[in-house]
Amino acid sequence: MITACAVDDLPPGESVRVDGKPAIAVFNADGEFYAIDDTCSHQDASLSEGWLEGCFVECPLHAALFDLRTGMPTCLPAKKAVRTYPVVVRDGVIYVDTGGREAVA
Ligand code: FES
Repeated sequence: MITACAVDDLPPGESVRVDGKPAIAVFNADGEFYAIDDTCSHQDASLSEGWLEGCFVECPLHAALFDLRTGMPTCLPAKKAVRTYPVVVRDGVIYVDTGGREAVA
């Protein structure tokens, strides 16, 4: 489990990048928190810098749209899913369950 940020630091419609290997993007989609791999599955773009539309994020480089709930792209040019991670909110802090990856945030 790694610490992403405080809930107050991630208002609805915003995202944050958590550095590490891999880097993880955490989103607040209208009050629901989601975590996915930050690097697009198409090329080397940071999805935390993309545009959030409901439960979807649009890649800032070539506009592939990823479903934050599943990691699946819904349009080209991305064809592969990005990984999703469980998010836990406890005592006003957002944590991402990376399955044992070391925290570097
Ligand atoms: S790098 Fe994301 S769609 Fe191309």
